[in-house]
Amino acid sequence: MSKTKVILITGTSRGIGKYLAEYYCGKNFLAAGCSRSANTVSSANYIHFTADVTDEVSVKKMFSEIRKSYGRLDILINNAGIASMNHALLTPLKTAENIIRTNFTAPFLFCREAAKIMLKNKFGRIINLSSVAADINLEGEAVYAASKSALVSFTKTFSKEISGYGITVNSIGLTPVKTGLVRNVPDEKMNELLGRLSIKRFADFSDISNVTDFLISEGSGFITGQNINLGGI
Ligand SMILES: NC(=O)c1ccc[n+]([C@@H]2O[C@H](COP(=O)([O-])OP(=O)(O)OC[C@H]3O[C@@H](n4cnc5c(N)ncnc54)[C@H](OP(=O)(O)O)[C@@H]3O)[C@@H](O)[C@H]2O)c1
Repeated sequence: MSKTKVILITGTSRGIGKYLAEYYCGKNFLAAGCSRSANTVSSANYIHFTADVTDEVSVKKMFSEIRKSYGRLDILINNAGIASMNHALLTPLKTAENIIRTNFTAPFLFCREAAKIMLKNKFGRIINLSSVAADINLEGEAVYAASKSALVSFTKTFSKEISGYGITVNSIGLTPVKTGLVRNVPDEKMNELLGRLSIKRFADFSDISNVTDFLISEGSGFITGQNINLGGI
């Protein structure tokens, strides 16, 4: 596997996804990304799709264009996600449905479509970005935590279903990172969450790419179905 690797990252217009797209372009990967809003990543190694990850027609079209442009896909990072910091009693049904569609159904769709391309080369690395909210069962974020728990469960089962094709599937339980996603969380609530971690600080972007680097490496072919929580919980 010495060819230039092709990586697809969802949700690249800002935050963690934008960081990862720029990081891997800088490492000379060929990167593709998507978001509902316009491209913000400027690199000759990058192509952007303006698409909603929950829309199956747009997603299939994106994969077809990736196949045509690159002829391969080596790595998928399911990063796009939304949060709604709501007590379950105060969560409208539409909000709950949107969270599940974006944080669980869309990554399932991307895993399925990516694996169809990856299995032809008998090589693939899939990473699903979850949250420590899942294992902590974080109160006040019941639906968000449930969406990420579903994603971790899917990661473990799907990893078994495709283990014979050289494709690994793992997830990372992220701790708070300073992005727009958590901008409106009150300081008191954030400090309470950080206090539940062994290492009581926000994650840096480099804490995340440290783990993605490890999981996507060719040497990590024997690591699958795992959820790695950052920060120690
Ligand atoms: N930040 C944290 O503290 C934290 C903690 C734990 C886990 N995470 C997880 O890390 C991931 C990234 O979070 P972040 O903090 O970087 O969030 P962010 O700054 O809000 O960025 C989210 C990205 O996802 C895209 N996105 C959302 N819904 C989409 C859709 N339906 N279709 C296409 N793109 C969509 C957004 O683009 P558009 O709006 O332009 O579509 C944006 O590029 C999420 O899965 C989140 O749950 C974050």
